Amino acid sequence: MNSTGTAPKAAIFDMDGVVTRTARLHAAAWKETLDAFLRDHTREGTPQPPFDEHAEYLACIDGKPREEGIRSFLLARGMTAAPGEQESLAQRKDLVFTRLLRKHGIETYSSTLALIKAMREHAMKTAVVTSSRHGRAILHAAGIAGLFDACLDGMDLAQLGLPGKPDAAMFLAAADLLGIAPALGVIIEDAAAGVTAGRRGCFGLVIGIDRGGNAQALRRAGADLILPDLDGFGINALEEAFRQQAEARAWRIEQEGFDAGRERQMESLFSIGNGYLGVRAAFDCPAPGSQADMFIAGVYDRKQDALPYSEIEFLSPNRDALLHAELVPIPFPFRVSVALANTALDLSSSGRDLRRVLDLHAGVLHAEVVHETPEGRCTLIRTRRCASLVDIHLLLQDIVAAPQNHALAPSISPSLEEPDLAAHHPHLVLVERGTAPDAEWVRYRTRASEIEICIASQSRRSEHALQRLIAVYTSRDTEDPKAAALGHLQSLATCDFDMLLASHTKAWAEFWTRADIRVPGHPDVEQALRFHSYHLRLPAGDDGRTSVGARGLTGRAYEGHVFWDTEIFMLPFHLHVDPPRARSLLLYRHHTLDGARRHAVELGCRGACYAWESTDNGRNVTPKSILLRSSGKEIPIFTGEQQIHVTADVAYAVWRYWEATGDEEFLTGAGAEILYETARFWQSRISRGARHCHIRGVVGPDEYHYGVNDNAYTNWMARFNLERAAWLARERGDNLAEAEDWKGIAQSLYVPAPNEAGVIEQFEGFFALEDYALPGEDRFKAPLSRLFDWDRINRVKLIKQADVLMLPLLFPDAFTDAEVAANYRYYEPLTDHGSSLSPPVHAAIAARIGLAEDAQRYWRQSLWLDLSNAMNNSMLGMHLGAMGATWQALVFGLLGVRFRDAGPTSAQNTASHLMPGWDSVALRLCWRGRWHALRVPGANELES
Ligand code: BGC
Repeated sequence: MNSTGTAPKAAIFDMDGVVTRTARLHAAAWKETLDAFLRDHTREGTPQPPFDEHAEYLACIDGKPREEGIRSFLLARGMTAAPGEQESLAQRKDLVFTRLLRKHGIETYSSTLALIKAMREHAMKTAVVTSSRHGRAILHAAGIAGLFDACLDGMDLAQLGLPGKPDAAMFLAAADLLGIAPALGVIIEDAAAGVTAGRRGCFGLVIGIDRGGNAQALRRAGADLILPDLDGFGINALEEAFRQQAEARAWRIEQEGFDAGRERQMESLFSIGNGYLGVRAAFDCPAPGSQADMFIAGVYDRKQDALPYSEIEFLSPNRDALLHAELVPIPFPFRVSVALANTALDLSSSGRDLRRVLDLHAGVLHAEVVHETPEGRCTLIRTRRCASLVDIHLLLQDIVAAPQNHALAPSISPSLEEPDLAAHHPHLVLVERGTAPDAEWVRYRTRASEIEICIASQSRRSEHALQRLIAVYTSRDTEDPKAAALGHLQSLATCDFDMLLASHTKAWAEFWTRADIRVPGHPDVEQALRFHSYHLRLPAGDDGRTSVGARGLTGRAYEGHVFWDTEIFMLPFHLHVDPPRARSLLLYRHHTLDGARRHAVELGCRGACYAWESTDNGRNVTPKSILLRSSGKEIPIFTGEQQIHVTADVAYAVWRYWEATGDEEFLTGAGAEILYETARFWQSRISRGARHCHIRGVVGPDEYHYGVNDNAYTNWMARFNLERAAWLARERGDNLAEAEDWKGIAQSLYVPAPNEAGVIEQFEGFFALEDYALPGEDRFKAPLSRLFDWDRINRVKLIKQADVLMLPLLFPDAFTDAEVAANYRYYEPLTDHGSSLSPPVHAAIAARIGLAEDAQRYWRQSLWLDLSNAMNNSMLGMHLGAMGATWQALVFGLLGVRFRDAGPTSAQNTASHLMPGWDSVALRLCWRGRWHALRVPGANELES
């Protein structure tokens, strides 16, 4: 196996205590210096105990530059010293250290030197990093400078202006000098501050050396492995530990440190959910400015003007007084406050060393933060939460507040109260709040749609810890949500918290047996793929009444509306990973047929026209205009009336579902009704010409052009819809007269054919539009000015997203490679990828025609779209359509999977050229009730 991504390339060693035995000399020098200081200083008249060269040295000083060490020592002791005095202490310690060094000489750890030599024989690079100003001199004096490719010591630190550990700057600078990515580096440290620095720098493996009494601190700081010494720890053990760590990390998403500017983005990324509800990942004590929302699938209310549409800058004014127009942000259920000596700990002022870890395998979000009071009292708060995957009305939370250097007992108070309901949750009216010992409930009602929501919580306490069971019900589920929520908690009263958690994690583990995709040697790719599968699963319920909005249940963008994203981009994932869930999502379209019928009538047609943007009842909730917050300018939106291809997209998905599952009951029941009603819509929507039928005045997938005629994509999809409806009617022997007409229309519907260059015209007249010079930097950014210029953009050859190129994705066998290539080469340069759905489609198509570089680039862009916040709007929710499309680009594009009667097969020739550095890809796909394990060899394996 090639192990490009799982073998370490370099190791960075801390010096004192890891390479050289100077840590003891440092501790002794500090003791001599600080004891003299302590003798001269009393605290509030009380004599000070002498410096503890073990515990205090490790807790406050070890690993830090001298000045910082003094500062944290004084803080922990509750003492102060004038700045000049601190400086002279630092100088004194230096003098004492030099004296001790001369007296005792420099000893090294032979075990460490043996490992360093072995590493170098294995072509690994090595560096040494120390906050000591004597670092380089010591290496030379010990005669070991030649063992390192790079060295950074306290002098360099000062010269480069780098902060000391626990900041990651020194290690990152060393990685830079070695020319390696941190993820490929190993950190070997004996100080907790150094371990923290290694973690913050996202190094591939952080080893803590505990030479006595420091293991707990090293573990808490995040060491992946703790060893008493490097004796016997050779290259094989190192590589194995590195590989295991990479494997484990590929199941986690981690955030280190707090950044107020990115907090809302993090809250989206780390969301939890279970198909019934989703909760953003605000901290249990939410940071100021956090968007601590919970969303419940299907809970919509009348539009509130002030809430954003798809971007913070866009507002969609209240429209048509529709009662179910906007997904309701519901108050955060995990709110807790922690107080020390009656003072609440506040994330923004006292929080530090903050860390979030999303365990994708278990579906559990972990968070921790250390609160340090002005007096230097440190309290570690560690929390866990999940939305049970087996009991969808249940949320679990636990929280531990552990004093680190004091004896005060922190108090933990959970609360369902939202401090500012009107500002943060304008859809809701508070109906009731009630409390009982260790229990609490709150009832809200949505203002217009009058849905009642009850959240109830029950707390279990033990020393410094609290466990909470939270139940959520709405009047969509039951007549009396309060009775249901309280009853639910009651029924769980004797259940063990850990057992409830275990059944949840078991359900996630079961999901992963179906959904996981292995790319050996590329844990970063596996991690991102898992992140996508996790997010695709979160909002997908199985009630048959709700579907998935463009951003799921992770944010406010698109107001929770359901688009074609679900059927065309997300559904294939569910179809081949969890077919019953795909069925349930399609049942939503059956459930909302009446709304679609009504929309057809609004458009002067018959049958059912699915709304471009739909909520729980299928009514058309697409905004008619967008208001720009900054300028107040209003931009018309035509998609609500014209982007009718969504109707055929639903029919297409019904068909694909049946093909993939053979679920006759669905096809002849709900499926038939959808196919017939949508065919009736097209029957009434087309214009009959002398030779052909046409579909006029539409918006295709490319939303930069409105009012166009015969959009190739729309017409192709409508034809498919009509053909399948006619076929099914004939098979079943019903609606035969109509079926004849559907068939006739399908045959005469004008569907643009490739021109002599093989290019299909996107719509009538597209080729004659003005050319448009698309500046390179505008691609993927979709500048706002596009929208200001909506009328001009309508007249030029500029495309928002894959339009014609959608066809070979959905109908791979209908086009030759040459035709696909001609269209890719024509349309790709005209596309600015203003939609996140566009790059993954381009990846799939480029892969199909062997444009390896394009395929890789577009695919990687899509894979890391939200993790890198590429569109700068992840704070409003995850891009689920793009995640589903990325899955398709891998499976259908890069791997070239096609389904034949016998099951899935892969066009291995395609794969072999498309994944430089990949050995293989392994996954499981469900097809017609059977699971097929697929292992596709990549370029590496085929070449070897
Ligand atoms: C895209 C649509 C998509 C919608 C929701 C728009 O920007 O153009 O294709 O359905 O976003 O994701």
